[in-house]
Amino acid sequence: MKLKTRILIIDDDEPGRQIMELLLKKAGFEPVSAGNGEQGISMVRNKKPDLVLVDLFLPDKSGIDILREIRQVNPELEVVVITGHASAETAVKAMKEGAFDYITKPVNFEELKIVIAKAIEKQRLMSENFYLRKQLQERFRFSSIIGDSLAMQRLFERMQRIVKTDSTVLISGESGTGKELVARALHHNGRRKGHAFVAVNCGSIPETLLESELFGHARGSFTGAVRDKIGKFEAANHGTIFLDEIGTMPMHLQAKLLRVLQEQEVERVGSTKPIKLDVRIISATNVDLEEQVRLGVFRDDLFYRLNVIPLHLPPLRERREDLLPLASHFLDKFCHLMGRQMMTVSKPALDALERYRWPGNVRELQNVIERLVALTEQDVINPADLPSEINEASRQPSGVCIELLAEGIDMPVAIEKIERKMIEKALQMSNGVKARAARLLGLNRTTLVEKMKRLEIS
Ligand SMILES: Nc1ncnc2c1ncn2[C@@H]1O[C@H](COP(=O)(O)OP(=O)(O)OP(=O)(O)O)[C@@H](O)[C@H]1O
Ligand SMILES: [Mg+2]
Repeated sequence: MKLKTRILIIDDDEPGRQIMELLLKKAGFEPVSAGNGEQGISMVRNKKPDLVLVDLFLPDKSGIDILREIRQVNPELEVVVITGHASAETAVKAMKEGAFDYITKPVNFEELKIVIAKAIEKQRLMSENFYLRKQLQERFRFSSIIGDSLAMQRLFERMQRIVKTDSTVLISGESGTGKELVARALHHNGRRKGHAFVAVNCGSIPETLLESELFGHARGSFTGAVRDKIGKFEAANHGTIFLDEIGTMPMHLQAKLLRVLQEQEVERVGSTKPIKLDVRIISATNVDLEEQVRLGVFRDDLFYRLNVIPLHLPPLRERREDLLPLASHFLDKFCHLMGRQMMTVSKPALDALERYRWPGNVRELQNVIERLVALTEQDVINPADLPSEINEASRQPSGVCIELLAEGIDMPVAIEKIERKMIEKALQMSNGVKARAARLLGLNRTTLVEKMKRLEIS
């Protein structure tokens, strides 16, 4: 997907064309240009412009021919005609051939900008219908999940294989990487899609309430239980239950959950009557559950029951290829939602987005873009519009290098210093859990342990 509106200028008057290119560039468009009709048509084909400005008097093709040929290549492309010989006759002819509008030479740039805005608006309205229809279809397809990176492509393949099954799935990944989105996609594409998808965030419900929330309770089973209540498991019967932040579940509930999974029936709190269940279980965690098992805070038998099919969502910083398509997707989405003309991101701003580490992953990116669309006045996003942490991050690497050079430190020592700093930071960020720190660093656990030994980090 392109981020800027690409405008093709077809005109044999070279100086005029160059000035137009410059002005269009300044106005935030991406101009491309051709000096004759033949080249122009081939650029319509190869460069896929969003709009064409064409001089009707070209040396190699008549204006009407060129309009027809553009139509043939792309019937939806809007064409604005520029003519030095403004006779009512040529203008009418051009409009009959489907030109969007015409302007006369010498071109008044302000007038041209208004015509361009109108043409883009028309295309937006036409594509909006298409967009809304597409959104309805996409809600239940993986295509609502953006991901060009190899890691995401592998994930889609795996999802495709398990979507029609009832297998229990455990989704792992940092906060904001799209775990719930994946869980919903599995449900909405599977056999259970006509039934409920019930999400429970085990981490946000107070421990004392979680049990009755999950399994329900019988009247009088505890103070305040004034009537029978069905739990989330029963509510999800025939559908899917999504147990989010499963790693926070207290030990005694882990035991009860394990029983529910084994027996496929649930007992409400304070009742001994078992209720048969048919529920698909998808759980998610942003902590390393295997490490929790090693630390003795998560039952290993429950872990194996939940982890039948593991799906891992890598953090955004480890799949840089997804950044641009995601940014473009969110820009598209929020411009449509807020009824704005499609915005573009300048190259330096894009560079800054690409260099940032995105600790909050896709959710953070989505929030940043939403804010940009809401608050940026002009249609081009520049580095100055970005949140300060993103701009600062993009300056950091060279900052560190300058510091080291200024200190007169040679490279092997510097590398060791950076290694130490990164390892210490990663350990701190992961509360000393080595497996997690290793993942942050992009190392496997044994390599991390070896490095820690060598650098004498305890
Ligand atoms: N690949 C993606 N394509 C499109 N949108 C995405 C993608 N990944 C995440 N999002 C969007 O980002 C937001 C966060 O995703 P989601 O809630 O699924 O993350 P999560 O992993 O469950 O986070 P948390 O652990 O904080 O609950 C959602 O609005 C989701 O639609
Ligand atoms: Mg979530």
